[in-house]
Amino acid sequence: PAPRDLEGLHVVVSAGPTREYLDPVRFISNPSSGKMGFAVAQEARNRGARVTLVTGPVNLPNPLGVEVVRIETALELRDAILLASEQADLVVMTAAVADYRAAERAGEKQAKVAGDVTVLLTPNPDILAELGQNKGDRVLVGFAMETHAGVERAALKAQRKNADFILLNYPTREGTAFGGDDNEVTLVRPDGSHEAWPRLSKREVARRLLDEAARVRLSQNAR
Ligand code: C5P
Repeated sequence: PAPRDLEGLHVVVSAGPTREYLDPVRFISNPSSGKMGFAVAQEARNRGARVTLVTGPVNLPNPLGVEVVRIETALELRDAILLASEQADLVVMTAAVADYRAAERAGEKQAKVAGDVTVLLTPNPDILAELGQNKGDRVLVGFAMETHAGVERAALKAQRKNADFILLNYPTREGTAFGGDDNEVTLVRPDGSHEAWPRLSKREVARRLLDEAARVRLSQNAR
């Protein structure tokens, strides 16, 4: 049986992709499956936490005993996460938030025209960074996917976003990251210290993530 070491804590997890609509029937998105975030939510629940899972469109059923909020766009994700995080002790951002959305979302389906079209994109707000600016006592965990210079970039990201640590993964390794049941990640702290974990099931990655978050919480409370 899982230890009940998260009893009394509120854990907020984001999962899945976001959809950025160009018009009512077209959107920009990415292949995030949501499996990593759902695994974190389930493990946190098993360990006694109250869990809110905010998820983009994924093919996964609501986990029992978890409050699930389904959203589509990054702006909806932001509203839901900021609301849920007010009383949170731990926020884990596994969602693959789209970096951009259409500057103007057309209200009607756009007709096809001859030749090229241009779509103006505008940046989405960085939700993790926003949480980091108003961190309070919360432990904040991010994910990052890099194709090169991963550790340095992830450490800078953790610093810039004021996250306690980031789990770095690579899009290129077979069977891991997007869609797979396993993940191979490196734990990266803002000071650049890091730990490469072997290839593990997403469930085991979730367990180790929660172990690390619990350690961070204890060391913060000890100060
Ligand atoms: O900057 P990058 O997208 O690589 O950072 C990844 C981390 O930041 C992830 O934890 C992701 O969920 C979070 N993020 C966010 N809002 C964004 C972009 C990323 O919260 N707009």
